[in-house]
Amino acid sequence: MSRSREIAALLAAVLIGTASVAVAQSGKPAAKETSAKPTAKDAPAKDAAKPAPAGPAAAAGAAAAAVATAAAPAKVHFGIGREAKPDEIAGWDIDVRPDGQGLPPGKGTARKGEELFVAQCAACHGEFGESAGRWPVLAGGAGSLASHDPVKTIGSYWPYASTVIDYVRRAMPFGNAQSLSGDELYSIVAYLLYLNDVITDQDQELSDKTFPTVKLTNEDNFFDDDREVAEKSFWKKEPCMSNCVAGTPKVLGRARAIDVTPEDGKGPRVE
Ligand code: HEC
Repeated sequence: MSRSREIAALLAAVLIGTASVAVAQSGKPAAKETSAKPTAKDAPAKDAAKPAPAGPAAAAGAAAAAVATAAAPAKVHFGIGREAKPDEIAGWDIDVRPDGQGLPPGKGTARKGEELFVAQCAACHGEFGESAGRWPVLAGGAGSLASHDPVKTIGSYWPYASTVIDYVRRAMPFGNAQSLSGDELYSIVAYLLYLNDVITDQDQELSDKTFPTVKLTNEDNFFDDDREVAEKSFWKKEPCMSNCVAGTPKVLGRARAIDVTPEDGKGPRVE
């Protein structure tokens, strides 16, 4: 082998060597990632130990837990972050469910709530929830949902009392969210329900205990997604593409009549 050839061969060997090291290195994190994926196992696995809550979300959670437990690989640490502390989790875990799960302790009446509402909410929502300016309306709208101008409020549209408690607790007063105490929260919500005729006695106590007695007017119009059954024909594997109407189809209107189809030659030029 000539000297230059020798050098070339040596260089090639070094290059190949480097390449294989590179492959090995880039292989490493990939392998780590694969084994790391199911480390989310801890959280869902703990969830699974709780009494099983009903509903599709819970079912999904249980399924995720089952998958995670089945995989159960060794724990991998990336050297970043730390486990969330219980009080940190509690700060985020504030959802209230329709069955009352997650309700904070407290009690109040519409009478007490009125004063709080006027002080903390009325500037935007109006003293009676009618809205000041363009802020959301919180009361009224009963029976308007099917009209041309539906007014969607807690009384006319919202599904559950828990939705009101959850929302006000989480997001209001706008700009000072999550500042209400338990008693203030129940008082204000009682006032909102009073404005919407859901509670008719100003002194009726609303609390985490009496909560199940409150039902919003539109609740029954919320139901589980039944499209798989109700629209079964739509989900057929082979949809009908021609002559799908039985008998002779009746023409009810023509686009030209309402002037949406440009007449020949008058429309915009399309190349
Ligand atoms: C500074 C103005 C402001 C104040 C004060 C305020 N809100 Fe609101 N509120 C808003 C805005 C803005 C929204 C809409 C937020 C959005 O859609 O993301 C809203 C939405 C709401 C809704 C949902 C309305 C709907 O039908 O979608 C409720 C209920 C509500 N506020 C209750 C309250 C209560 C109770 C208080 C007092 C504790 C309060 N708000 C104080 C501005 C305010």
